Amino acid sequence: MGSQWGYDKTYMRAKHEGYRSRAAYKLQEIQKKFTIIRPTDNIVDLGAAPGSWLQVERNLTAARVLGIDLNPIAELAGVETIEGDIKDPEVIALVREKLPVVNVVLCDAAPKLSGHKSYDQARIIELNEQALAFAINVLKPGGNFAIKSFQGTDFPDFYADCRKYFYSVRTCITRSTRKGSTELYIIAKNFIGTTGQT
Ligand SMILES: C[S@@+](CC[C@H](N)C(=O)[O-])C[C@H]1O[C@@H](n2cnc3c(N)ncnc32)[C@H](O)[C@@H]1O
Repeated sequence: MGSQWGYDKTYMRAKHEGYRSRAAYKLQEIQKKFTIIRPTDNIVDLGAAPGSWLQVERNLTAARVLGIDLNPIAELAGVETIEGDIKDPEVIALVREKLPVVNVVLCDAAPKLSGHKSYDQARIIELNEQALAFAINVLKPGGNFAIKSFQGTDFPDFYADCRKYFYSVRTCITRSTRKGSTELYIIAKNFIGTTGQT
């Protein structure tokens, strides 16, 4: 967890406090500002490895926490995991089977970057769109969704797509995001629902 960022103060703090990565502080900040998780919420976390968000989520709700990642997630007490691709319809079906009620979907997933800016931006937004599709498939009306994205040419379209499905949509750049990074989070609250949902 230190290699990408160097062994900086936040990395050392995360290590000291027992978090699997420094990303834990981003979710804590989002929760403090937007209260996206309530104490009885069932949560699905997309792109959850190594699991620091899962650690934070486990402390914020007494209900169920389910993490999904392409990579295995080391065991965490009180957390269920699926090793799989969020684009896979079978993974969505499995989530619906395991968790009939989903109140919150969080997504910190990021594809492996190639270094080619416009290609990477397109792949990130494609993954964002797939995560949004996942969320609207499983979320209960009134539910919340937060997702990591990156500013760029395709971002406004993705932001507009989120606004179609949620009554409230905001953006947030967290304090622990590196200076110069285009990373930001979309905080979409109060899912409007799709026809037929209760
Ligand atoms: C920045 S890490 C997430 C960190 C995590 N929030 C934490 O706190 O530990 C991004 C993760 O997204 C996962 N990922 C990328 N594309 C994915 C996909 N299509 N399906 C599932 N996971 C994916 C990667 O495997 C990686 O583990």
